[in-house]
Amino acid sequence: MIIASSRCTKPGLQISSQVLLYMNKAKIAGIAYNVPDRVVTNHDLEDMMDTTDEWIQTRSGIKERRWVEDGMPNSDMALPACKEAIENAGIKPDDLDAIIVGTVSSDYNFPGMAPIIQQKLGVTTNISAFDISAACSAFIYLLEIGSQFIQTGKYKNILLVGSDVMSCLLDKTPAGRATGVLFGDGAGAVVLQPTDDESCILSTHTYANGKGVEMLHAKAPGSMFYPNRIDAEVIAQGHHLPVQNGREVFKNAVVRMPEAINFALEHNNLSLEDVSLVIAHQANYRILQTSAKRMGMSMDKMYVNIHKYGNTTAATIPIAMCEALEEGKFTKGDIIILTAFGAGYTWASAAIRW
Ligand code: UT7
Repeated sequence: MIIASSRCTKPGLQISSQVLLYMNKAKIAGIAYNVPDRVVTNHDLEDMMDTTDEWIQTRSGIKERRWVEDGMPNSDMALPACKEAIENAGIKPDDLDAIIVGTVSSDYNFPGMAPIIQQKLGVTTNISAFDISAACSAFIYLLEIGSQFIQTGKYKNILLVGSDVMSCLLDKTPAGRATGVLFGDGAGAVVLQPTDDESCILSTHTYANGKGVEMLHAKAPGSMFYPNRIDAEVIAQGHHLPVQNGREVFKNAVVRMPEAINFALEHNNLSLEDVSLVIAHQANYRILQTSAKRMGMSMDKMYVNIHKYGNTTAATIPIAMCEALEEGKFTKGDIIILTAFGAGYTWASAAIRW
């Protein structure tokens, strides 16, 4: 449907029908990532968690991950990515209309990290700033929320941040090895703007099924632990640590991600041949491989960087997008598909014309 908004249509302005078609869509105008300098290899974890490099590589594809230095809050890790994305978009922090953060490891229990980033960026205006909690699917949920604000004309410059310091959530002892070896720290940020050409977010699809809650969660601090949400007893029972039924999560991920990719293709009347690259949440190399196989897709089209960073939760997709761009895996005008699956269960896909 062609809808010309008065916001974009100036009297006497010549606009091609192609541009009109995308006028109310959002585009990614700036993108950047940041990972901590500290490299933690599988060998570093061998003594700590009674694991082996061989087990981790075979089961997950991870060779190393980054962990922040002790005491670095999530917002400090995310800040360089935010600044670079803003610069790439050709705007200043004060041009932002909204900041939305996806994370499960915010600096504080409340408020969210978005107002903290607003302050650290030096934004002097009182803009909208809030967090969402959608775990590994958060980045695509952010794209969905942000692009709606652009499409309605409410905002023109939105900073979306997917950032997690997973290393502060982990049990780094042998008891925690099943999840402890999988996660890393990292941040990605994008700036959304109304598009002025064919580059745009073509579609987003987000889903959840709460039947998966028990399969992957960290319960504390939480109001179910009345009255303090967290205390010595809650910690002694390990409720503050992530718990995962890895096999169940795996089985669902390899069904839901291909399904979500297909929804994105069908919605946009596309086939896999039209797609330059699929960028999926990096949780396990075998999940990527199985998903590609189920799609009848070559691994050449499935981006992989899990070996370098592990699972950085909300940050895997923007980090992968940045690296894939740097490697020339897609370029202006190409179509890419994003997909994710994680705690909730939540899952999602997005189709983007770059
Ligand atoms: O991003 C959020 C979404 N999360 C995911 O998508 C993760 C999905 N799940 C997975 O990626 C995989 O299930 C894991 C990588 C988590 C685990 O791989 P798995 O092949 O499903 O292994 P498993 O959990 O069935 O464990 C196999 C064995 C067990 O020993 P037994 O019972 O066979 O004797 C575990 O105790 O491996 C043992 N094990 C380990 N051994 C060495 C579990 N963790 C480790 C470890 N090092 N770190």
